Amino acid sequence: MTDPASPSRFESARNSESVVIFDTTLRDGEQSPGATMYLEDKLQVAEVLDHMGVDIIEAGFPIASEGDFEAVSAIAERTKNAVIAGLARAIEGDIARCGEAVRKARRPRIHTFVSTSPIHLQHQMNKSEAQVLEIIARTVTQARNLVDDVEWSAMDATRTPIDYLCRCVEAAIRAGATTINLPDTVGYALPEEYEAMFRQIRERVPDADKAVFSVHCHDDLGLAVANSLAGVRGGARQVECTINGLGERAGNAALEEVVMALKTRGDSLPYHTEIDSTLLTRASKLVSAVSSSPVQFNKAIVGRNAFAHESGIHQDGMLKNAQTYEIMTPASVGVSKTSLVMGKHSGRHAFKDKLRELGYELADNALHDAFVRFKDLADRKKVVYDEDLMALVDDEIVHAHDRIKLVDLTVFAGTKGPQSAALTLDIDGTHVTHQATGNGPVDAIFNAIQALVPHGAVLELFQVHAVTKGTDAQAEVSVRLAEDGKTVTAKGADPDTLVAAAKAYIASLNKLMMKRGKSQRDALAG
Ligand code: KIV
Ligand code: ZN
Repeated sequence: MTDPASPSRFESARNSESVVIFDTTLRDGEQSPGATMYLEDKLQVAEVLDHMGVDIIEAGFPIASEGDFEAVSAIAERTKNAVIAGLARAIEGDIARCGEAVRKARRPRIHTFVSTSPIHLQHQMNKSEAQVLEIIARTVTQARNLVDDVEWSAMDATRTPIDYLCRCVEAAIRAGATTINLPDTVGYALPEEYEAMFRQIRERVPDADKAVFSVHCHDDLGLAVANSLAGVRGGARQVECTINGLGERAGNAALEEVVMALKTRGDSLPYHTEIDSTLLTRASKLVSAVSSSPVQFNKAIVGRNAFAHESGIHQDGMLKNAQTYEIMTPASVGVSKTSLVMGKHSGRHAFKDKLRELGYELADNALHDAFVRFKDLADRKKVVYDEDLMALVDDEIVHAHDRIKLVDLTVFAGTKGPQSAALTLDIDGTHVTHQATGNGPVDAIFNAIQALVPHGAVLELFQVHAVTKGTDAQAEVSVRLAEDGKTVTAKGADPDTLVAAAKAYIASLNKLMMKRGKSQRDALAG
């Protein structure tokens, strides 16, 4: 192990090889339960990823729904640098639709996949090994006739016998695949096994050097990042990952962890990426907000506590020399220390600067709305902390496109029941009002919402957090709703806990409406 500041670290960086970063937050990440994103949100995420230096952005799964198709084409049209990939099953219609969606990209890619493991072939696809080999040759050829850049993935590669996997990879390369992705779809592999798999495939498959090999790891055993790095050691030069590790089940390898591991441990991992790591925090906050997926406090790199030093010994060391307990600087991942406290006298300029420091770049209208809400908050709360601002802006970004909005709420609560709520909502521009009673004020509010927006969804989670300390702290409420096996989670923030509860419930209903429109998607992808 080499000290982070030693010269040999820079020596190895000079001799390092390039690893390309393929971000799939907008495809595999969005497959995470409750993480459905609006088109405008996806465009914002894609812009940050492109700005950050991500090499390939997987923008969605065009055949899954009209919304996905639109998102992939809009991102393809607007993205300046990154390759834009769309996902397609090994089906003619999928590939054609995907080709259409990425058509306007400066650098389009079709990413097509088929399962190769015996368990998938037998139980899911009902196909023989020979049939799958034929499918690979046919579909990769079709994709290559549409674009020059074709990625082929062997779904469940890590549970596929190596001899058969070699034959599949050979067929894909022969048909023109330029990238070969060997995913650990179910998060089963151990690092040494994953590394060995890449070594063997690259040694045994004829013309293996004509393709770039890629890792794609899920985190079911908490090994996604370790496996991804092991795959790179085994010869892979593309890493598929997501911001905050968002993704199916336990998620995918976290982009920020892969990037910072490569950057910090260049002494034993002599590879480099083009990622501007100072944008990692901003990307993490944006993705967390638009996908309604909170980042755990102790999450590596981007968690709230990732650079917090609580114990006396650590604080003492930090004061003497930060390197005693920090292997990378907060600034290197975009965390800035600031003493600017916001209050009711802070002006628009200071507000904008502060948001920029926190990683938010809002368009003029959104900035104006957020400023009005900040002034309102500052009137009600003496000191507005960074966390307050983040909750407020997240709320603003996420709810900008809502069809249902809270207009007014009056609650009668206390020991003398019945508790009741008088609620006015704006639904697609029309104001509607209802008064309801309930077993407590939250129940009364939710009953009023149910009366105005009739639905069959079941409340699965209701959680309240204080955003900061103090009795005047903002409350952040999370609500999860389930309908037909699909779940959505959304948050609402306000100094009044009951208003926050109403906002969170309404936000979940907004997400549910969007999800209904694209419910086909989850049935399709892996
Ligand atoms: O995990 C997986 O195998 C996938 C493929 C579609 C690449 O996401
Ligand atoms: Zn995946």
